[in-house]
Amino acid sequence: MNYFKFQNQHLYSEKVSIQKLVREFGTPLYITSEQSIIRQYALFEDAFKDINPLICYAVKANYNLSILGIFNALCSGADVGSAGELYRALRAGILPSKIVFSGVGKTDEDIRFALENNILFIKIESLSEIRRIHKIAKKLGIKANVAVRVNPGVSVDTHRHISTGGKEHKFGIDESKMQEVFSEIKKYSTISLVGFCVHIGSQINSPEPYLSAINVLFNMKSIAESYGYTISYFDIGGGFPVSYNTEGKIIAIKDFANTIVPVLKSSGVQIIFEPGRFMVANSSILVSEVLTVKQNIHQKNFIVIDAGMTELMRPALYDAYHDIVPLKKSNRSSVIADIVGPVCESTDVLARDRKMVKVVEGECLAICSTGAYGQVMANNYNGRRRPAEVLVSGGEYRLIRRRDTFEQLVENEVFLE
Ligand code: LLP
Repeated sequence: MNYFKFQNQHLYSEKVSIQKLVREFGTPLYITSEQSIIRQYALFEDAFKDINPLICYAVKANYNLSILGIFNALCSGADVGSAGELYRALRAGILPSKIVFSGVGKTDEDIRFALENNILFIKIESLSEIRRIHKIAKKLGIKANVAVRVNPGVSVDTHRHISTGGKEHKFGIDESKMQEVFSEIKKYSTISLVGFCVHIGSQINSPEPYLSAINVLFNMKSIAESYGYTISYFDIGGGFPVSYNTEGKIIAIKDFANTIVPVLKSSGVQIIFEPGRFMVANSSILVSEVLTVKQNIHQKNFIVIDAGMTELMRPALYDAYHDIVPLKKSNRSSVIADIVGPVCESTDVLARDRKMVKVVEGECLAICSTGAYGQVMANNYNGRRRPAEVLVSGGEYRLIRRRDTFEQLVENEVFLE
């Protein structure tokens, strides 16, 4: 977390004191460093500069409009997974010609919206989707660019819930079905096959599985060419790893690139990447206040804070590890404690049996590396209001999302009085 550092014992994001932001905006509060995102983007771009890839930031990682605005200013494209994400990307100014649409279950509305906006391509993940896209394109009187998402049958060493490229997963179309896919596409003058895609999972700490998946793309390309198609894109997906401080050494993006770039270069097609986590995970913290410190009868310590699984689902969903540190450094003894949220669920645990310096009620903690799949997965369970988010840049800061209001909690409901 390069852009969150202690200065004189107090945590800062760039040049702004976190405590100051807490005083102004309250807790729970997401705080994002703009410079951190800009640096990650530059690192990625530089690592792969030899092949000049189109970077389509996976907006699902953090799709706040102002965050997407930063990506737009960096000339990024976007990978979207629903009409709602496409709407966000377009609202933030991202060019349709740099947007790709993923998703194993697209609705007609998703497809229509993507076609109407003339995006780069829609990924197809089933035979029946080809027919649906044809029907909608015909109605609109336009031609649809599509890329086939291949299920490469590659297993990766990551949490089973974020692995997506194995034969047992719902994503993509099996290689063995590709002949059928080509014959189906051939039937429709409304559909133009322009590329092949994979996304094998997330937090993948080795280039090897990518090489296996890319190999499958090469095979697909030569079969497609034998059917007379011209393939212009390989979309390699996302999944590039970041450090959450548990996995040992994370492979540097430059080393990753050194292994896969020569192979990709030989493809002669435009390469697309869809990094999400890499761009934003270490660019945000979630700040939360300690509400209660207590011990149960077996001397187990609990630190109850005002953020829980409703603000950050990752620990409850994937046993994900996030560093948690007080905003103020001081010499204190440590305890082993569960750091838990206020939600009425036993799974509402942000850290289990964590060695933690002793904290006091009323002080604030930073939950680190929460920029990817943090705020976007927050929800209103237990009548909780999703937190505010502040964007820091240098010595400046701006509110980029207000905390939900009570009115917003009920605004879509119809009260039958
Ligand atoms: N492209 C596609 C088609 C995807 O499905 C995803 C993520 C990405 C790109 C970006 O992957 P990344 O570079 O961020 O690893 N909520 C989980 C992660 C789910 C990822 C879903 N797909 C988590 O908090 O770990």
